Amino acid sequence: MKEKSHELRCTGCGARIAGTDATSNFRCAQCGELYEVVYPWSSDGANLPNAGALRWLWQERRSSTLPIDQSGVWRFRDLLPILDDPSHAVTLREGNTPLYELPRCGKIAGVDWLLAKHQGMNPTGSFKDTGMTAALSVAAERGFKVVACASTGNTSAAMAAYAARAGLTSIVFIPEGKIAWGKLSQSMDYGALTIQLKSDFDGCVRVLNDLVKRLPIYMLNSVNPYRLEGQKTPALEMVEQMDWQVPEHVIVPGGNLANSSALGKGFEEMKRLGLISRVPKISVIQAHGANPLYRAMQASGGEQLEPVVADTRATAIRIGNPASWKKAVRIIRATGGWVEEVSEQEIAQAKAEIGAEGIGCEPASAVTLAGLKKLTRDGRIGREERVVLLLTGHTLKDPEYTIDFHRGTLFSDQEASSLRKPPIVLEARTDAVLKALESSIQL
Ligand code: F0G
Repeated sequence: MKEKSHELRCTGCGARIAGTDATSNFRCAQCGELYEVVYPWSSDGANLPNAGALRWLWQERRSSTLPIDQSGVWRFRDLLPILDDPSHAVTLREGNTPLYELPRCGKIAGVDWLLAKHQGMNPTGSFKDTGMTAALSVAAERGFKVVACASTGNTSAAMAAYAARAGLTSIVFIPEGKIAWGKLSQSMDYGALTIQLKSDFDGCVRVLNDLVKRLPIYMLNSVNPYRLEGQKTPALEMVEQMDWQVPEHVIVPGGNLANSSALGKGFEEMKRLGLISRVPKISVIQAHGANPLYRAMQASGGEQLEPVVADTRATAIRIGNPASWKKAVRIIRATGGWVEEVSEQEIAQAKAEIGAEGIGCEPASAVTLAGLKKLTRDGRIGREERVVLLLTGHTLKDPEYTIDFHRGTLFSDQEASSLRKPPIVLEARTDAVLKALESSIQL
């Protein structure tokens, strides 16, 4: 008989089950909490892989022509043995995302050394691809024909693409009118059945949870623990890109609150294996209008979370009842990180500042820089600390937001920003252009 490569462990009561025994909504049958994937080496310390050998192997795979070696997720497959046969991986060569320096943003935020791990440079333009290749491959290998998710737009885009690659049917539930056009168009382009519910993200989750109990549909929301196995790999890639140095601080946006714990899992496992000597602080930033975790930390130190009715133009994180909040609290506490909230104006300004570095990101990603500014201002991050911002989505995901910002119509009371670059409409005459140039730029 084949040796068990992994199990699912309940994060509430610690019960362990086989991967194939999970309920359709990925909640523990005993206590209702979420699962995490554990391996003999990660939970019992058995068969600990050799750190030096892993580094060498992962480096070697970079020059391979095999699709799974070219994937920035499956290149690290030794730490995510969730498939019976790795050649079953459904991959779009995700991961392999750049780690950019942001010197001007660093200066504005008051740190000497600021980097951005740009997960928006994934095949469908967001960090969701790293998780989707993992969980959808599991679905395909286990013979599911239909997959579904509730989404603020990026998960649905990723799921639709990977399902199409695997020849599976995908059903997307999105809140009507509250997702960015780029994302909606992707799910249609990749051939998903797209259902817009007259509700918010939290309403979409409710309906999907009911549905998976009745129909043989595999759920691909981030409560699915296999998603997080893929989403932990950017942590590996990040320290590899830093020559196995560890930053002091990693800052992520908080929505449904799964990604912070996924990255944390990646760092903790690397520490366990001796690949790194410490885990960075992981901080989570929420939009003020969608801040249930921030409130929970203020009110009860993260013991209890009261759902809120969420509202923010950073639609990716417009979530009032985050499923994975307990996982997020655990990793924030374990690493000594912080939770902050930022205003709509602060998000818009930070997004323009990231754009002005020639990088760009979607609004939800920009909360990281806005949050960093607050954390340095309050003395919680020192100038000398090395900080990495997780930029979760590509700037082209939500061009409407960018255009509204630059035209000055994003909010009714939008503040003037020196970064605003509204388009200039002119007659097609050289003299008119020369005049406009004189007042706009220095030549
Ligand atoms: N940034 C972006 C661009 C996102 O799309 C999301 C979540 C987050 C941050 C927050 O990550 O949920 O793990 O805390 N988007 C989900 C979706 C909910 O449906 O695409 P999280």
